[in-house]
Amino acid sequence: MPISIFPVTPGFVAEIGDVDLSRPLDADTLQAVRGAFATYAVLVFPAQTLTSEQHLAFASNFGPLEVTIQRALRNEKLRVRKEFADIANMDAEGKLWKKDARIRLFQMGNRLWHTDSSFKAPSAHASLLYARSVAPIGGHTEFSDLRAACDALPASLKARLPGLIAEHSLIYSRRKLGFTSFTPEEEAAFAPVRRPLLRRIPESGRETLYIASHIGRIAGITDAQTEALLAELVAHATQRQFVYTHRWRVGDLVMWDNRCTMHRGTEFEDTRWPRDLQRATTSDRLDAFGVSEKPSALAANY
Ligand code: OGA
Ligand code: MN
Repeated sequence: MPISIFPVTPGFVAEIGDVDLSRPLDADTLQAVRGAFATYAVLVFPAQTLTSEQHLAFASNFGPLEVTIQRALRNEKLRVRKEFADIANMDAEGKLWKKDARIRLFQMGNRLWHTDSSFKAPSAHASLLYARSVAPIGGHTEFSDLRAACDALPASLKARLPGLIAEHSLIYSRRKLGFTSFTPEEEAAFAPVRRPLLRRIPESGRETLYIASHIGRIAGITDAQTEALLAELVAHATQRQFVYTHRWRVGDLVMWDNRCTMHRGTEFEDTRWPRDLQRATTSDRLDAFGVSEKPSALAANY
């Protein structure tokens, strides 16, 4: 039976039905999913029942699996396998984080508009986030379509972008939250990576912005100009017409293309409600300039 593709928005988000991700997909089904993923940069697969292994097996159809940055953080014991980014609000013993826990402040970075692993080399291609438990209210995830936002840029703003190269680092996004206490090892692990502000997606041929809160500098302009330009681009790209809000249900697997979207988690009472989401992430085989890339220390070590 062919998969069902149900557009949620005309060209950004689709729900995919009639597919069981716990089983290996045949070649036709996989091709249909890939085709949908080239058109829609966010795919929602509702009502899935997945073990960690099944989740990772489906993810690995879309490239090599990343390993979590949490291993680079001081004193963090992993709750889930190292191939997952742990998007839950609890520690390895399953206890909710305390208000002032270091990891809680660090993970607040997910509330800023970002794209996953733009600060790694290679950067991320697909993220596949699976919901095991959700908060009763709040705790949604919002997505912004950077292809549509790029198409709609005012000409005078767009004319300033070709050739601009941004530096991405986790240190920059965390600094925006007032989180500045990194160990020398963490500073080294999160050394900035250079990425163009504009790029083209090979599968669709579409041009896109490539922006994130991880950007701290843009080569050739001042830090104040960088901040102003980034604020202008993020404000443009997160206007209502470019944004989809996903309200989670247990069993949803949501997959997005990090090369041409941003996302952020919305607030919820995270010291009250458990919210257990786990993300598998695949690496881009090409760098943002379209050439294959030597792994950075971060990718090699983790
Ligand atoms: C992510 C992410 C935000 C959230 O999974 O990469 O940033 O809490 N999630 O929904
Ligand atoms: Mn993220």
